[in-house]
Amino acid sequence: MQGGRRLHGDVRISGAKNAALPVLVSSLLTDGWNTFHNVPDLADVRTIKRLLTGFGAEVEGCETLRINAGKITSHEAPYDLVRTMRASILVLGPLVARTGRARVSLPGGCAIGARPVNLHLKALRAMGAEIELRDGYVEAIAPRLKGATMYFDISTVTGTENILMAATLAEGTTILKNAASEPEIVNLADVLTGMGAKIQGAGTDVIEIEGVDALHPVEADIIPDRIEAGTYMIAAGFASGDINILGCRPDHLDTVIAKLSEAGMKITPVEGGLRVVSDGNITSVDVQTLPYPGFPTDLQAQMMVLMSLGGGTSIIKETVFENRFMHVNELIRMGADITVDGSSAIVRGVSCLRGAPVMATDLRASASLILAGLVAEGTTEISRIYHIDRGYEHIEEKLSALGADIRRVKGKT
Ligand code: UD1
Repeated sequence: MQGGRRLHGDVRISGAKNAALPVLVSSLLTDGWNTFHNVPDLADVRTIKRLLTGFGAEVEGCETLRINAGKITSHEAPYDLVRTMRASILVLGPLVARTGRARVSLPGGCAIGARPVNLHLKALRAMGAEIELRDGYVEAIAPRLKGATMYFDISTVTGTENILMAATLAEGTTILKNAASEPEIVNLADVLTGMGAKIQGAGTDVIEIEGVDALHPVEADIIPDRIEAGTYMIAAGFASGDINILGCRPDHLDTVIAKLSEAGMKITPVEGGLRVVSDGNITSVDVQTLPYPGFPTDLQAQMMVLMSLGGGTSIIKETVFENRFMHVNELIRMGADITVDGSSAIVRGVSCLRGAPVMATDLRASASLILAGLVAEGTTEISRIYHIDRGYEHIEEKLSALGADIRRVKGKT
């Protein structure tokens, strides 16, 4: 890609990856055809489709996706699929709740820290599941899960979703304390409620679920992706950008809007979304990642690119994941001035970034390198770009339509 082009025009935001994954998995709780709209065409969604098909479910369609998990013929989520996507662990709770057993490969190591699943397992055990770890797999058995009151030591998004799904079919009432409150959890809870589940408090840190004997199929929408929206909003920060972010949910972006405004960008509501304008003068601001409604960790790497061009010094503190600074060394290769000190990065603004060959290490890191390439002088070549396809639908097309000079070079990884 060649940097330095002015980005302007409209971009339409796709369905949220992190909402689509649990929502598609929730079809395991029902017998019959579910219909989901606004499903993004992403590698992670294809992985979920493969997992569901492997369990015996019928899956049809793409943006509108129909799933029938009437007959479940396998209880195993194999390593080959789970290793490409940690969120595969989401199938554990629903499978046990619906069929009484599941065998799911442990996700293993991850570029952005240890990311254990101990809290998922602790919660299922509290609901009466017998769980063993054998040959790299979690094996869970529970003829019928029982409602329980539990406290999550750490706010966990997929942990909350896993247990929320499991609890819908459990006997009695489950109360989740210190539950995660991300919009994706509210989307999932709305879908489950449409299936006949009894849920209160989704979107707060206490969720109460009264188990029912069976759920029925549903027709539902996936919410727009707030991380994709935030990434394009940040892209508007460079060189007189002026982008209409259409189809987003501004109420899911409050903290991002506040931070980018503090950094000097102008963000105003327009019909169907937000207009984001920048004169290219970025004020350095401090950022701390936190669970929702705090600043999302999934936008930390992208925000670091913006701060690299700030007028002063910014401290970016990552509190959600350990070791989520894999992008820093690549940004330094492009001329950024960043020092990592434990969980903080000290980012001193520079006048420009320069194109370089760089390597993507994970999904959000690859988004940050694309942003850096958009603003850098000269040519940037990003390898291992397949990471981006896990979470950004048609990113080259969307950026090209905004005026970027970007293309995928076939045959390179
Ligand atoms: C989800 C998102 C991911 C986002 C993250 C934080 C999906 C598919 N992925 O990931 O994009 O970056 O939330 O917003 O929705 N933890 C434990 N034990 C557990 C579970 C988690 O210690 O059993 C820790 C993790 O190591 C991490 C923290 O809890 O430090 C938060 O992780 P969690 O919210 O679980 O992240 P994911 O659900 O994997």
